[in-house]
Amino acid sequence: MRILLIGKYGQLGWELHRTLAILGEVIALDYPEINLAQADEVRRVVRQVRPEVIANASAYTAVDRAESESELAYAINARAPGILAEEAADLGAALVHYSTDYVFDGSKGSPYVETDPPNPLGVYGRSKLEGERAVEQVGGKYLILRTSWVYSLRRDSFVTKVLQWSRQQTSLRVVDDQVSNPTWARMLAEVTAQLLAKADKDWLGERGGLYHLAGDGFTSRWGWAQAILRHDAHKEEQVTRQVLPASTLDFPTPAQRPLFSALDCQKFARTFGLGLPPWEEALRLAMEVS
Ligand SMILES: NC(=O)c1ccc[n+]([C@@H]2O[C@H](COP(=O)([O-])OP(=O)(O)OC[C@H]3O[C@@H](n4cnc5c(N)ncnc54)[C@H](OP(=O)(O)O)[C@@H]3O)[C@@H](O)[C@H]2O)c1
Repeated sequence: MRILLIGKYGQLGWELHRTLAILGEVIALDYPEINLAQADEVRRVVRQVRPEVIANASAYTAVDRAESESELAYAINARAPGILAEEAADLGAALVHYSTDYVFDGSKGSPYVETDPPNPLGVYGRSKLEGERAVEQVGGKYLILRTSWVYSLRRDSFVTKVLQWSRQQTSLRVVDDQVSNPTWARMLAEVTAQLLAKADKDWLGERGGLYHLAGDGFTSRWGWAQAILRHDAHKEEQVTRQVLPASTLDFPTPAQRPLFSALDCQKFARTFGLGLPPWEEALRLAMEVS
């Protein structure tokens, strides 16, 4: 299998590079080798590589900055996925693309299913939703995996930030009114590789579409922060003595975030017989050292 991986240095892309390697030849790129904001460049690269699968782990993920850089966010998150879908369809290739819980406004009060109407609150969510729609409009063989609260330990993430704060502050205040599913990038990459391992030409055509795929269960950022401290392999370095709940209103940000954006991943489990483990078990594994 010849796979074009875009975004090899991102949280997810880094892991995909490793999990996809067993499937065949992986041509892995990231900015500036490929600039998703340049439509012509995207087409040229895909035509040069002629992949059987495109895995797009690149995105404009700076949620707050997107509010003042909407043109760039739309180019990368909305237009580029459509171009990748068109090029994939021309080649008869499959496209695996990732989207976000931030397409929802967070007002439902229970985990979102794929048929719930999206209503993004900010530029990031709107641009990602447009990207989903661009891929769907082209059709062909595609998977859109909507995920949430992605973390890894090798790039800045909520997990690495909490660990850093825990070495500096005796008391932490973390919002308890934002709730979703923490998702370890590694496990998302593992599942992606397992899916592609099964995917002969027709398989993905029959099962393609939009799926929710995130860590099982949900928690607040406050609950997540406490779990991070619990599973810290170097607790002796912590100076934090208490983690206090706070409100989103206490930390104003340029972009509004959904409050309850947990994803229901049952459609994915029913269709593929696979799923991510409970979020805290994945966190424990991510943070464990021998
Ligand atoms: N992180 C989350 O909490 C979260 C939640 C839900 C869904 N998702 C989705 O999951 C997917 C993976 O997210 P992630 O957290 O792994 O993202 P990430 O760590 O921010 O990685 C994104 C990658 O895209 C690259 N990139 C940025 N602009 C580019 C451009 N113009 N051309 C080519 N590449 C460019 C980035 O390069 P630079 O680092 O140089 O900018 C980076 O390597 C994305 O689709 C994201 O929307 C993420």
